[in-house]
Amino acid sequence: MILRIPHVLCADQVADVRSRLQTASWVDGRVTAGEQSRLAKANLQLAEDDPLARGLGAEVLQALAGNRRFMSAALPLRIFPPLFSLYCDGMGFSDHVDNAIRRPPHGGPPCRTDLSATLFLSDPDAYDGGELCFREGLEERRVRLPAGDLVLYPATTVHRVTPVTRGVRLAGVFWVQSLVAETGRRDLLFELDSAVADVRRDLGDAHSAAVRLVGIYHNLVRGWAQT
Ligand code: NI
Repeated sequence: MILRIPHVLCADQVADVRSRLQTASWVDGRVTAGEQSRLAKANLQLAEDDPLARGLGAEVLQALAGNRRFMSAALPLRIFPPLFSLYCDGMGFSDHVDNAIRRPPHGGPPCRTDLSATLFLSDPDAYDGGELCFREGLEERRVRLPAGDLVLYPATTVHRVTPVTRGVRLAGVFWVQSLVAETGRRDLLFELDSAVADVRRDLGDAHSAAVRLVGIYHNLVRGWAQT
């Protein structure tokens, strides 16, 4: 499922992130690319150990932890912190699949990338191009979201960023190792969680159907989660 998660950051938070990125030291984005994607990738990003990147990354992770829709859809075990990227002057990223494993630069457990995410940080009218495009069978889906919104998608998906032909496109990209690795099961749990929330709202938490459905949700997670 390719899912939009609105308002991960509020307008004030986005403005603060953008102002701090204005004085950032950008490096060639190919430093974190794999062999194939190195050929496809043309952008700038903050170095992974840049204190600014680490500070902003921690703030994004904190916002994600409080976002119910993200937590329900991703069921995160581990999140590889955001890489902050900048595209301008015709920069883009042609078709690729993200690396399966991300290793933290200073040790710690590797992150299997079950889900990829792009947090848009520039207002859509501040740039042309810069669409995130996904192949869905014969169709192509193009995503370009308001600043502060996130798109979450299976990391198995072939995707690209079209060249930015005007202005500057800022984004944060990160990866999630999910408690539930398999996309179909994870999507089913997300749908069930949403339906259970409706039942609880309409019937009340004490209703026997609500109690049983909450139990089914947790028992499925218990059966499918890998920790
Ligand atoms: Ni990618």
